[in-house]
Order: sequence, then structure tokens, then C-alpha cells
Amino acid sequence: MKKLKRTHYCSDIDNKLVGQDVVVCGFVQKVRNLGNLIFIDIRDRSGSVQVAFDNKTDQKLLEIAQKVRSEFVVAAKGSVKIRDSINETIKNGDIEIYVSDFDIISKASTPPFEILDNINVKEELRLKYRYLDLRRPELQKTLIMRHKIVKVARDYYDENGFLEIETPMLIKSTPEGARDYLVPSRVHQGCFFALPQSPQLYKQLLMVAGYDRYMQVARCFRDEDLRADRQPEFTQIDLEMSFVDENDVMSINEGFIKYLFKKIMNIDIKTPFLKLKYSEAMERFGSDKPDTRFGLELVDLTSILNKTEFKVFASAISQGGSVRAINVKNSAKILTRKEIDKLTEVIKTYRGKGLAFSRYTEDGVSSSFEKFLSEQEIKEIYEKLNFEKDDVILIVADKNNIVFDCLGNLRCHLGKKLNLINKNDFNFLWVTDFPLFEYDEEEKRYVSKHHPFTSPKLDQLDKLDTNPGEVLASAYDMVLNGCEVGGGSIRIFDQELQQKIFNKIGLSKEEADQKFGFLLEAFKYGVPPHGGMAYGLDRLVMLMLNKESIRDVIAFPKVQNSGELMTGCPATVDESSLRDLGLKK
Ligand code: AMO
Ligand code: AMP
Repeated sequence: MKKLKRTHYCSDIDNKLVGQDVVVCGFVQKVRNLGNLIFIDIRDRSGSVQVAFDNKTDQKLLEIAQKVRSEFVVAAKGSVKIRDSINETIKNGDIEIYVSDFDIISKASTPPFEILDNINVKEELRLKYRYLDLRRPELQKTLIMRHKIVKVARDYYDENGFLEIETPMLIKSTPEGARDYLVPSRVHQGCFFALPQSPQLYKQLLMVAGYDRYMQVARCFRDEDLRADRQPEFTQIDLEMSFVDENDVMSINEGFIKYLFKKIMNIDIKTPFLKLKYSEAMERFGSDKPDTRFGLELVDLTSILNKTEFKVFASAISQGGSVRAINVKNSAKILTRKEIDKLTEVIKTYRGKGLAFSRYTEDGVSSSFEKFLSEQEIKEIYEKLNFEKDDVILIVADKNNIVFDCLGNLRCHLGKKLNLINKNDFNFLWVTDFPLFEYDEEEKRYVSKHHPFTSPKLDQLDKLDTNPGEVLASAYDMVLNGCEVGGGSIRIFDQELQQKIFNKIGLSKEEADQKFGFLLEAFKYGVPPHGGMAYGLDRLVMLMLNKESIRDVIAFPKVQNSGELMTGCPATVDESSLRDLGLKK
């Protein structure tokens, strides 16, 4: 086979090269065969270019060109010339390569879908043939951007003194919240490695080992249910620093985001970011990852309704819950009774029992709750919510966590539905002052809200024994447009305090020793105070590129049931492999 050696990527060929001989290699995007005139669009990862054959082209080459079909891999040599009919809608549309040599390198069967952006093809089919899907310009652009984002991250942290150090993939199972993926050991039968949920303990041990500033583009594994922003296997930009407090970690990372957005998208992100305490984020937005690109903030009506006779509200309040509302301004025309019924269905998915409303139209106010309240209560509610013509008020009464969940999600639902979101906004903020523990109703014990290595705020230690639920953590989440893109904390570096926290979450000394003994042991030998955080890289890339799902920014993602459609895994294995691992007699 003759060999044509590429000289240029397709999109690098432009009118400056007119008259020059070039060679391009790639996939056939399109063939137009007009008999003695054949045009072929060749595509590579940079873009595409048209190559042309006519009746003066060598007959043998014309014969080869006649055989070309979509997605064949070809090489074309020729001189660059200005086209007879210029296509101004595409880059390169003014030139073509007039072929002097041509080769079919690899033939292709007809692909199960056309390799074009914006094609209407089921995601399952696209994922089964992901290597074809990945040929689409949109996905190529995405993965090239992802590469650049990772490169900029490595550059930034390198310039700031961070060392990239790899940590192991086969580790001891130390559950961090999700379920572990386990790997059976052949040598130690009956024993298992776990795949890391994050490099958390290793990066802390690297601080104990004196590396001072660590970062890693790290693969993490969590056996949990998938969502649009969750994969069982995902990537973190993970980092840890010694001798720092919360503000140090936050400011170095604000610097990263500023640098990243400038480099990649030429966008200026304002720093420092807004900081919202967890309690304020919940009160105002019903979420610990608030989308601040639009209003619709929550308003607490509980104090007005303390003595109400309306059973629904009264019983929520008497059980320690609350009554909260959103005033959806200028929405009465859109939020008809029927639409409000649909919103009620939305909140039911968040355990909401009902959605009370008042709707103010030209015909006056129609309300589902006025009839149950006193005039004074109604007046105060409307005043507090600044209820005016064309407004719709939506109210949920329940336990606080349910009220927040319902209204927080309803708020986001309405933000999208009513087009209140500017897609070009990048609203970053920190959520701080998280509670250290959450009470697990099922297990009847406290559990760590982040992970058990998170330091309590040091002025709160006295509350650990008296009121653990109120102790705040030195933890922070970075939120972008309603998505948690990163999170971290200052760590406990004192062996005794660490023991105490284990104890509070119900780990006995023996259990703690068995699970985390190596960490407690390490803490005996001198520990620099340290803290850090980790970004969900996939989420960050998804939001930067305005994609709907992290599957759109991962080369080979998993689907809903955690399987991978292309290779068909997970899959059964040979009996002999199972015997080797001691999993079968
Ligand atoms: P955390 O568990 O909050 O913290 O994870 C850090 C960030 O990783 C992203 N993320 C995910 N992305 C995709 N799929 C998932 N299943 C998934 N789970 C988490 C989120 C999240 O903010 N070791 C700590 C960090 C630290 O304390 O330094 C940790 O892993 O964007
Ligand atoms: P009911 O007494 O069940 O007919 O409810 C009267 C009104 O209160 C209806 O508009 C219900 O949708 C609403 N409602 C019921 N439960 C709740 C709740 N937990 N929070 C807010 N409104 C509710």
C-alpha cells in the first residue's frame, strides 16, 4: 500500500496555502458524486475540508473515489485552490484540495447513525457505539476542552507550589458515605481491596509525610445510584495543604477558578466569591447548593401562623416544622390552576403533602387557604410576601427538611419553567458553616455530614458533648449555578479529637482502630495542621460547557444501571477466575 503522510489537519488548510501541495487524512463526512465531478468532505478532529476530483483527475483515482462511502478512512493529497462556488457558512468554505493522489485506508460499514451534531438518536444507541458518537464534532470539542481544563488546573496548582502525587487505587475499605466497590484478593483469599471513593486519607497522610501542598487529578469510585450529575466512576481535582485555615483554602481555589475561566473562556470571574452560611442558604433558597442566578427566595411565615386554626399549618408548626412560601411575581397568567396542580405533583416527589396557593388575577384573588385563616393572618402573609396583582404565592407546611426540599426544588423548577435563568451567568459562591453531624433517624445516631476527618470549628468543642447537633464544621462547598462543584474542609489533626468524633458517630475505639488505626497511629508522629478540597471535574466541565449531564463530558460513561453499554460490563467471569479468587469452590 502506498503511504500518504499527513501534512496538515483539515481545518488548518485555508486560503493562505493556495497553490501548495498538502496531504490530509481522516473520515469521509460526505460524498457528492456528480459523475465526472466528485467532492468528498474529509473530517478529522480539527474540522473538515473539501477535496475535489474532476475529469482531468487520473482515471484510477476517480475509480477509487467512486467507491468511497461515509466514514471510510482516507488520505488525500493535492494542491489547495480557491473553489468555484464558495460556501461562506463554513470555515474553509472558500477553498478545496484538488486531488493528485488518493487512498482508501480503511473501509466502513454503514454506521447505525449519522455522524452529525444535533442528531436525534437514543442515548443508549449512541453509548453502545460510543466510538462513533465520539467522532461527532460536538463531543470532540468537549473532550478537547476537558483536556485543556485539566492542563490549566495542573499548571495553576504547579505554579502555586502543589505537587501532583498519585495515590493507590487498591486500598483498604474505609467507607466515606457511599458504598465501596470491592476487589477480591487472590493472594489473601477472603480479603478485599476497595477502590477509593476519594484519596482523602492518603492526601492527609501526605501532609503527615511533609509534602505540604498536594494535588491530583484523581479517579474516584462510589457504588451509588446514578443521576445526571453523578457517575459511579468520576474524576476529582483533589488537593490538600498544610498550615492553612479555611480562608487560605478558599482563596487559593478562588484564584484557580478565576485563572481557569480567563484562560479557557476569557471570562472574568469576580473574587472573592459570595459566602453564605449553610443556615442562610437553607432559609433563603431551601438548598445547600443554591442557584443564585434568579430570585424566588423563600419566606418564612411561621411567626405569623403560630396561633392559626388551620390544621395543616398548625400541625406542621406544633411538630417543630414551619410554613414557608415563595411569591412568584408576574406569573398568574402562566401558573393557572392546572399548572399549580402540576407543581403539586413536583413537590410530591420531594415528600411534600400539599401546595397551598393564592393567585391574584384581574378577577381578584383565588386561594386554597384563605378560607381557613383569619383576616389578620391573611393580611400579614400578603404583606410579608408583598403580594400584588399577577403574583402567585405557593406555600408548603411540614417538617423543615421537607419544606426546604420541596420549595428549594420547586424554586429551581420554576426558574427553568419561567425562563428566569441567564445561561451565560456563572454564579459561584461558598457555602460555609455546615453542621458537623446529621442525625440519622433510621440508625438513631449522628453521622458526619462531610466525612469524619472534618474538624469542628474550634470555638465549638464544648458543645460536642452537650449539643452535638449544633456543632458547626470547618467545611466549605463551592457552588456554581445550583451545583456542588467542589467541597472540602480543615481536618482534625489531633488524635484525641479524632477519637472523640469517631465516638460521637458511634464507632467504638476497637472499630475505629480496626478501620482507621493507621491514621490514628500516624497522628502520633507530628502532624501539620491541614485542609483541602476536591472538585468534581466532570461537573465543572459540564457547567463550563453548558451541558445537561456529566455523561456528555465523559468519554466512556456508565448508564443508569451502572453498566457500560459498549463493552457490556459488568459481566460474568470464568469459573476458574472465581476459583482463583476463592469465590467458588
Ligand atoms: P466530596 O464527596 O464532596 O468530597 O466530593 C468532592 C466533589 O466531587 C464531586 N462528586 C461527584 N461527581 C460525579 N459523580 C459522583 N458520584 C460524585 N460524587 C462527588 C462533587 C463533589 O463536590 N475527599 C473529599 C474532599 C475533601 O474533603 O477534600 C470528597 O471526596 O462535585
Ligand atoms: P385540605 O385541608 O387537605 O383540603 O387542604 C387545604 C389546602 O392546603 C389545599 O390547598 C392543600 O393543597 C393545602 N395543603 C395540604 N397539605 C399541605 C402542606 N403540607 N403544606 C401546604 N399546603 C398544604
